[in-house]
Amino acid sequence: MSDFIEQVKKRRTFAIISHPDAGKTTLTEKFLLYGGAIQEAGMVKGKRQSKHAVSDWMEIEKQRGISVTSSVLQFNYDGFCINILDTPGHQDFSEDTYRTLMAADSAVMVIDGSKGVEDQTRKLFKVCAMRHIPIFTFINKMDREAKDPYELMEEIERELGVETCAVNWPIGCGKEFKGVYERNNKEVIRFIPVQGGKKEVDVEICDAHNEHLKDELGDVLYHQLQDDIELLDGAGAEFDLQRVQKGELSPVCFGSALTNFGVEPFLRHFLDMTTSPLPRQSDKGEIDPLSEDFSAFVFKIQANMNKAHRDRMAFMRICSGKFTKGMEVFHYQGNKKIKLNQSKQIMAESREEVEEAYSGDIIGVFDPGIFSIGDTLCTPKNKFAYDGIPTFAPEHFALIRNTDTMKRKQFVKGVEQIAQEGAIQIFTELGGGMEEIIVGVVGVLQFEVLAYRLKNEYNVDIVNTPLPYQFVRWIKNDSIDLKTLNLSSDTKKVQDLKGQYLLLFSNEWGVRWATDKNPDLVLAEFSKN
Ligand code: G4P
Repeated sequence: MSDFIEQVKKRRTFAIISHPDAGKTTLTEKFLLYGGAIQEAGMVKGKRQSKHAVSDWMEIEKQRGISVTSSVLQFNYDGFCINILDTPGHQDFSEDTYRTLMAADSAVMVIDGSKGVEDQTRKLFKVCAMRHIPIFTFINKMDREAKDPYELMEEIERELGVETCAVNWPIGCGKEFKGVYERNNKEVIRFIPVQGGKKEVDVEICDAHNEHLKDELGDVLYHQLQDDIELLDGAGAEFDLQRVQKGELSPVCFGSALTNFGVEPFLRHFLDMTTSPLPRQSDKGEIDPLSEDFSAFVFKIQANMNKAHRDRMAFMRICSGKFTKGMEVFHYQGNKKIKLNQSKQIMAESREEVEEAYSGDIIGVFDPGIFSIGDTLCTPKNKFAYDGIPTFAPEHFALIRNTDTMKRKQFVKGVEQIAQEGAIQIFTELGGGMEEIIVGVVGVLQFEVLAYRLKNEYNVDIVNTPLPYQFVRWIKNDSIDLKTLNLSSDTKKVQDLKGQYLLLFSNEWGVRWATDKNPDLVLAEFSKN
């Protein structure tokens, strides 16, 4: 096997999703400890989450460098090279999550064992399901009182509409938590608290039928375990790797990230069941990740990561070939050859200049303002475009105005840049200027983030007036006289950043009116990109 193929085959790229506080940060941190990427717990900072996502975001904002490190991490473990993509825990950022999932080959879903499926889990899972990627569940905090494991599995099936299959099974919970039973090799991994208040616990592995196990677990838990084993073998969903890989069946592991229990077995199971980088669709068909021709697509853009430099980074997932620093590539949407300079890879704590990276990896490159989300980079000799990343239709609208006319330039620049990052969508009145901008967002918190960022990054204050629109439709007809359209009085004609025409509606009735009264009008829920 060539070195290139070996490098690609050992890569695993996954996203991690959870409701805030379920333990995503703690679990990630333990993964990194195994990989030797960090030396002690508590190093993945940037986000001891408070209950409110904007304040999280602001907190992250204060530590911008760190927020990036916690959004893409790479580490090596047991011969694998693992890329973890963090996702925001709040539904208002589900579009961000969707884009991140586009860059991942699978997802890990963390669930708090005492809470079960929570609001954001539901919303984020829906986004995962749209991508049909394999989803691996880690039921966390078993060292605390938890719901009945059967109930938890049933809840996941019922609420998320995915079948589950237990990979291991908990023995007790809370103060009575004794460990997990590993179904594949019929072993029990025992949870042994360490004296002296240390968080992390010791483990001991023994056969599930070991005669000493009864003494260790006590009669009740021992017998319950034997019953559970029988029940699981008899009644649980059959493990079927193909169904896992289609996202129809989610393997479930139980553990406790904080005490570092069950994390390494989970990681091992996960690595066993996941694949190396998967092919991606393009306008020239599927692109093989093992092809040596470099290609990548941009899934995230973030400006002002370093306030002092006002830089803008484009994050891309490499889908084939090998990246080398300074290489010349073809930017398909810009129809231009460019050099990829100032490329960064995120290694746990630090942003490091990356010399080379492979299919499956995520790199951030300096963006002089030329990239958009969904753009393709490929080799000049083999030009193609990856399928675009759909934009979610905004559901909330507001008119925003800059309070200080002297700062018009900063206002326009800030709003445009934040829109290019894909955090908001902006529209203007036909023939209108940029004094007043209509902003559309998927989640209302994005309005707060917008105001916060304009103030902090561009020194601009805004007033925000909510607008009653709820639906947006792009006009697909290339030539249509907008003046002659017969529309309901509360429908608004606007233009987006690319100059495309669209309509904003206050209700579905308005949409129906537009299509009924204008038979030639072709409307779409997504922009052309
Ligand atoms: P998140 O990224 O999903 O939002 O969750 P995070 O890891 O920050 O964990 C949220 C809280 O849950 C933290 O407590 C963390 O220590 C705790 N936690 C995570 N895993 C476990 C577990 O397996 N068992 C128990 N008992 N607790 C767990 P905190 O009080 O908010 O923060 P800290 O003071 O512990 O740092």
